Amino acid sequence: MGTHDQPERERAVTLDDPAAIARVDTHRTREVLAAFPAQCRQAVALRPEPGGPFVRPRTVIVAGMGGSAAGGDLLAACASERLDVPILVHRGYGLPALAGQRELVVAVSYSGDTAETLSAAQAALERGCALVAVTAGGRLAALAAARNLPRVTPPGQLMPRMALGYLFFPLLAILKAAELTVVKDGEVDEALEVLDAQADALGPARPTVANEAKRLAQALGERLPVIYGGPLTGAVAYRWKTDLAENAKTFAAAGTLPEMNHNEIEAWGGPLARERHLIFLRDHEEPSEIARRFALLRELIGGTAGGTSEVWARGTASVARLLSLIALGQWTSFYLAVLRGVDPWSVPTLDALKARLHGGPP
Ligand code: F6R
Repeated sequence: MGTHDQPERERAVTLDDPAAIARVDTHRTREVLAAFPAQCRQAVALRPEPGGPFVRPRTVIVAGMGGSAAGGDLLAACASERLDVPILVHRGYGLPALAGQRELVVAVSYSGDTAETLSAAQAALERGCALVAVTAGGRLAALAAARNLPRVTPPGQLMPRMALGYLFFPLLAILKAAELTVVKDGEVDEALEVLDAQADALGPARPTVANEAKRLAQALGERLPVIYGGPLTGAVAYRWKTDLAENAKTFAAAGTLPEMNHNEIEAWGGPLARERHLIFLRDHEEPSEIARRFALLRELIGGTAGGTSEVWARGTASVARLLSLIALGQWTSFYLAVLRGVDPWSVPTLDALKARLHGGPP
């Protein structure tokens, strides 16, 4: 039986009982999440082969889907206040019309077999874009080998969404080789330290009473999580939504301030608000206008929501702050999966869709 009817005390026991976690987490997702800081350290050293330098582009397009697009979102969030070159994260077939000879396209597919990303890579070749592949294998690796394209090769065997370190840090190296510095070396070091601290604070060995991710998973219970971030952390809100979907197999909604103040705020007056749980992704560096909006939001809709939680980014530079919240979301979705009795690793319906696509015309 799942945990849907369990009382609170029993649920707390579940998350502090290694055997109870192991019964649900049969693929040992917990070990992969615990090794996330080590993965990121290894990822920092990955470089494209053959290497750059690459020509400084007019636009950077990161083409990928799902977990492989998430590194692009993180890159764009880090770059928004620093780079004078736009970063587009393209999720879909082909490429946007602007892609031409002055664009740098980074095709990211962990498996290397994602149809949309292969189509984007093909379009990049046809249009004369500079093209770099980030992939552990598959048809994208074969294409890179056949065309002698620069390729970053992360280790395989992970679920793409859990390989975010391998799919994000190499993007920094690729852009640097194209004269675009998004994150400084010291900021990477800080991010790695913050991730070490998060792994320690959020892992299964840390009891519920002192573990923010376990407590949040418990607080959510059966309610639908609605995650709101600010201008920087909005990208992480979407990552939480996708991690909750794939790991805990649950619906979630994600939005960004200030935009949601102008539309979605009204939905909280409706009867379903009680069945929703608000999660605010806060950031000590957020502008005062945004802090004020979070405070007002809490006053206006906090009472109608079934529950409200506020979590804070850690670290100083954007990259550390964003990754700290991503780590919290990974662990929260993991514990929610355990509470719900669902394997956090497998994605059977997504796999079934891909199998059918490969079996016949899309
Ligand atoms: C699975 C996952 C998915 C994949 C997506 C694209 O863990 O995160 O969202 O990332 O289906 O596949 P890849 O990453 O292999 O291109």
